[in-house]
Amino acid sequence: LARGATAPDLAGRHVVVSAGGTREALDPVRFLGNRSSGLQGHALARTAVARGARVTLVAANVALPDPAGAEVVPVGSATELRAAVLDAAATADAVVMAAAVADFRPADYRESKIKKVDAEPEPIRLVKNPDILAELGETRRPGQVIVGFAAETHDVLPNGRAKLARKRSDLLVVNQVGDGLAFGRPDNAAVVLGADGSETEVPRGAKEALADAVWDLVVARLGRRPP
Ligand code: CTP
Ligand code: CA
Repeated sequence: LARGATAPDLAGRHVVVSAGGTREALDPVRFLGNRSSGLQGHALARTAVARGARVTLVAANVALPDPAGAEVVPVGSATELRAAVLDAAATADAVVMAAAVADFRPADYRESKIKKVDAEPEPIRLVKNPDILAELGETRRPGQVIVGFAAETHDVLPNGRAKLARKRSDLLVVNQVGDGLAFGRPDNAAVVLGADGSETEVPRGAKEALADAVWDLVVARLGRRPP
């Protein structure tokens, strides 16, 4: 075991974690992106390895060293992340969507670099990306545990409850963002909402501690189901 004190309570389990933030290309040099660093997803992958799981980490634009012992699948866009996650989910006992997935992508990709012109630029038209977490909720294997993350700026818990139900997830890790909270910081605080009505508060601490709290809740749900 990588960490002596950790119980191997995910031994024999395959878990999939998505991390980072997707980038939606406008042209060969530009993209629409977001501020997700991948730290929380990496902490989830590391702690799952320490608990004995086989780990697939689908990493979207993460500038961090690969976590030891995890299989890392690098991706760029939401479309690529979707393909990699759904592929890995086919054998997974649990899927944790920690990645910040772009809700929209540019409707048209320009094969050559968009040039500056004298006139004002055209508006960028966007189209919706598929909701991967919702797809996982709809197509889950029997017994598979699905976990989402949600960053909310206001009405954190009501928005979280609605989101959990809409996406048919088992667990939703909700944290408040804005004013330098969460993004790129090594620590995090959250409330984990369960489809069974449970509410688990995780006090501000290392992203590893939040990751372990998530795996505790996942293990409890896997334990209710035969492997
Ligand atoms: N998610 C996803 N696919 C998307 C958008 C989000 O799988 N196209 C996942 C995220 O990885 C996260 C969860 O859904 O685990 C919640 O993401 P969030 O952005 O909070 O939810 P949205 O449904 O996109 O709602 P909104 O952005 O409007 O709050
Ligand atoms: Ca979103």
